[in-house]
Amino acid sequence: MDLLTGLTERRSIRHYTEQTVSEQEIKKILETARFAPSWKNSQTARYYAILNPELKNQIAEQGTLDFSKNKYNIQNAPALVILTSVRNLSGYEPDGSFTTSKNTHWESFDAGIAAQTFCLSAYANGFGTLIMGIFDEQKIAEILNLPESETVSTLIALGHAAEIPDAPARHAVGEILKIS
Ligand SMILES: Cc1cc2nc3c(=O)[nH]c(=O)nc-3n(C[C@H](O)[C@H](O)[C@H](O)COP(=O)(O)O)c2cc1C
Repeated sequence: MDLLTGLTERRSIRHYTEQTVSEQEIKKILETARFAPSWKNSQTARYYAILNPELKNQIAEQGTLDFSKNKYNIQNAPALVILTSVRNLSGYEPDGSFTTSKNTHWESFDAGIAAQTFCLSAYANGFGTLIMGIFDEQKIAEILNLPESETVSTLIALGHAAEIPDAPARHAVGEILKIS
């Protein structure tokens, strides 16, 4: 798939078919997604692919802050990817101090790039995705038994799209660009 087409045609998918996603398919998506850029190539993104329906349901029930739309989004998708970030690397000097005045910002910045790269790779491989920001970080860390060194950055639903929505409106270039 042409990159420019993928960038414009990828949509957030909230309704999936029952077709399952295999381990091999997730590995293939990540083979490309791992090329996402990161702070000093620190590569802090980690991916926990949840294919087990009971575990996925536990995350939907207990890890969505009672936001029913995300509970549905997770239950309805055949797979869920939990993207975590290794703490204290992106934006840090080797002595543990921040490199810039934006402090911890770069950790989330890297996670955002990793998430979108994963979604674009998934799209190019024929899958739909949904990035979710409304979740209970502590609860999910507990369910996954995450090491203290990692923080949950985002959840990504993954599967075959049953319904592809129209693109939500975007600002016109003239509204968001200033050229001097
Ligand atoms: C950081 C981030 C958090 C998001 N969180 C949620 C969420 O919790 N639930 C949801 O249904 N959509 C969520 N979305 C999806 C956005 O609503 C969606 O990307 C936006 O409406 C544009 O639609 P498109 O992705 O189809 O272009 C999130 C997207 C991003 C980038």
